[in-house]
Amino acid sequence: MTTTTGTTPGTDWAAWQTSWDRQQEWYMPDREERFRVMLDMVEALVGPEPRILDLACGTGTITARLLARFPKAVSTGVDLDPALLAIAEGTFDGDDRVSFVTADLKDPDWVSLLPYDSYDAVLTATALHWLHSEPLAALYGRIAGLVRDGGVFMNADHMIDETTPRINAAERAQRHARMDQAKKDGALDWAEWWELAAADPVLAGPTARRFEIYGEHADGDTPSADWHARALREKGFAEARTVWRSPSDALVLAVK
Ligand SMILES: C[S@@+](CC[C@H](N)C(=O)[O-])C[C@H]1O[C@@H](n2cnc3c(N)ncnc32)[C@H](O)[C@@H]1O
Repeated sequence: MTTTTGTTPGTDWAAWQTSWDRQQEWYMPDREERFRVMLDMVEALVGPEPRILDLACGTGTITARLLARFPKAVSTGVDLDPALLAIAEGTFDGDDRVSFVTADLKDPDWVSLLPYDSYDAVLTATALHWLHSEPLAALYGRIAGLVRDGGVFMNADHMIDETTPRINAAERAQRHARMDQAKKDGALDWAEWWELAAADPVLAGPTARRFEIYGEHADGDTPSADWHARALREKGFAEARTVWRSPSDALVLAVK
């Protein structure tokens, strides 16, 4: 972006990454733990030099942790949000291990936009609850077509067990009380973080576009971990089950 004075305003991509992480951790204090287990399972099942698809990558969170741990990995990030993609592209500018694709995962043709037709691992976090179950099951079918035989898919997300309403309510009340306290101590929530992005000279334009695309947040479902594992097996994965979980969230792993 060029200003009227002909200079390009600098943007501190690392600072945006940190503030995104803090905002997401306000909702999920154990966020890094799920990434650690995800990468442990990548190493265990497909080794330390994987080609991965960072699905609904946002700022490239999974890609950053992947490359820090496995420098010979290669990553494609796919997302629809122009502001989060701007942060991702700024962060990894000049790194030829990484590329980004703008696509809507509900579009049946998004796979055709990818630079590779096959991946060792497709990884995603805190994103697929933006989709309803029916388009999500269809997406799982497309992902099964992208993962090589012996490769993996992993989804870390909010996964609710509807058979335990009292446990769910008690856990939710405790989690929200902790969030209220963290907010009093200065944590930013989703809406406040987007206000910061809208006020940034470089991110203002893409932030306005992302609100035209999504509004505040897309509407989706949070089916149980068992639902995810079953849907993945029905769509062509040989094995699928939970490999990590908290009271509200789970990491489901499927092997092709
Ligand atoms: C809460 S963010 C999580 C981003 C990142 N995985 C992380 O853990 O920080 C959810 C992401 O899902 C993306 N997303 C939601 N629905 C999508 C869709 N239909 N197509 C592409 N991306 C989508 C959003 O744009 C957003 O970047």
